[in-house]
Amino acid sequence: MHPEAQEGFVFFEEHTLTNPYDFYDCVRQSGPIVRIENPHRETYMVLDFDVIREITKQPELFSSRPAGRNLNFYPKAVAYLKEHGYGFSPQIITADPPLHTVYRNVFARVLREKRAHQLRPRIVEIAAELIDNIVDEKECEFVMDYAWRLAILVIAEMLGVDRNDIAQFRRWANAWVLQLEQPLSEDEMLECMKNIAELQHYLVAALKDRVANPRDDILTDFAAATIDQENGDEPLSLREVLGMCEALIIAGNDTAVSALSLGMLRLIERPKIAERIRGDRKLIANFAEESLRYESAVQNNFRSVAEDIEFHGHKMSKGAQILLCWGAANRDPVAFENADQFDIDRAGIRKHQSFGYGIHACAGAVIARQELTESYCLLLERLHNIRLADGLSLADLKRRGGAVTHGLERLPIQFDVARR
Ligand code: HEM
Repeated sequence: MHPEAQEGFVFFEEHTLTNPYDFYDCVRQSGPIVRIENPHRETYMVLDFDVIREITKQPELFSSRPAGRNLNFYPKAVAYLKEHGYGFSPQIITADPPLHTVYRNVFARVLREKRAHQLRPRIVEIAAELIDNIVDEKECEFVMDYAWRLAILVIAEMLGVDRNDIAQFRRWANAWVLQLEQPLSEDEMLECMKNIAELQHYLVAALKDRVANPRDDILTDFAAATIDQENGDEPLSLREVLGMCEALIIAGNDTAVSALSLGMLRLIERPKIAERIRGDRKLIANFAEESLRYESAVQNNFRSVAEDIEFHGHKMSKGAQILLCWGAANRDPVAFENADQFDIDRAGIRKHQSFGYGIHACAGAVIARQELTESYCLLLERLHNIRLADGLSLADLKRRGGAVTHGLERLPIQFDVARR
């Protein structure tokens, strides 16, 4: 252990990843930034709401291009994707300015208010269909039967995936998410790359089609970035725009699944709040915000230190890894009164950092908020007395996720059906 690292503060341990809140309280006693034990890399964890903001405002010092994933263990799989697909495309989430600014401008255009507005009725339809599928049984496994399906169908909608192609799109998207959750065997990774290569060809064909036959949709906006840039920048390559489409799957899938499921858990834990918001729809947005804050679907994101610096009393070396701990910042007692209480009436309910902060703040937050509020609205309308499935208690629910995302493995529920 490095002498500066705090004894016992080992971040990458299963119990701290799955149940981080006691750990955060304990680490917080040692200051807003704490060096933690990591045998592989100098690593600091930042738990303080304001210090995280400070870091996100200085991308030149705290880069979003961390060490990257180590794919050296999978030479066959990586070679396959290069040869048969388009390789790994550059990603907005790991880009720094000035490239990040160029990508972000495209996202701003693509996910602008008009598009979000167009998407809302489709989100409502998708949610209603999924609820139709579960009501008769009066029970379901909420993560797989609702949250996962909704998130992937909304992304498919954004990418203009044809209804007939939905089943294979699910398989492809699943592979994208799976390969991020290493470790996998070489064969498993190869299988993922085969799926990703197919997805890439599908998306590239769709993008080319939108260049030739523009429509009034998101994919056409993405495709337009290969032809022109409104601000006079060079057109982007097809590979870069493909990377942006893939970013929706990477950034908008697992995150939304976890947030939806954790919100449902809050409704089950707090039936009085469920009743209150069922009776007053205006409170649903507040409920969604507070559940995003209370247990964040993205607990951390990484940054790397761009040069040797001294920051808040720590001598940090170039290349050191920083964990921006949104989950801890959202329970920072200085930033939030009674931070450990779930309170849908709290002042400044949207000030949480669950969508990040600064130049990389979630580009899909408007869409994510629509998914959450429309879902809770319809679920509360149609399902009553929502409870854990027979024989289960809250203590039986297992969390899943790694250093970044955080959610529920399964959420088996039962409910009564409201008369329509
Ligand atoms: C409740 C669900 C979601 C949560 C909690 C969430 C959270 C986040 C967070 C914390 C970041 C910041 C990453 C960083 O600073 O390194 C981020 C970035 C991003 N999110 Fe989301 N997200 C959600 C849903 C979505 C959806 C549905 C989409 C797509 C429609 C999306 C697209 C993105 C993109 C493209 C970025 C990268 C932005 C950039 O680097 O400039 N997210 N998200």
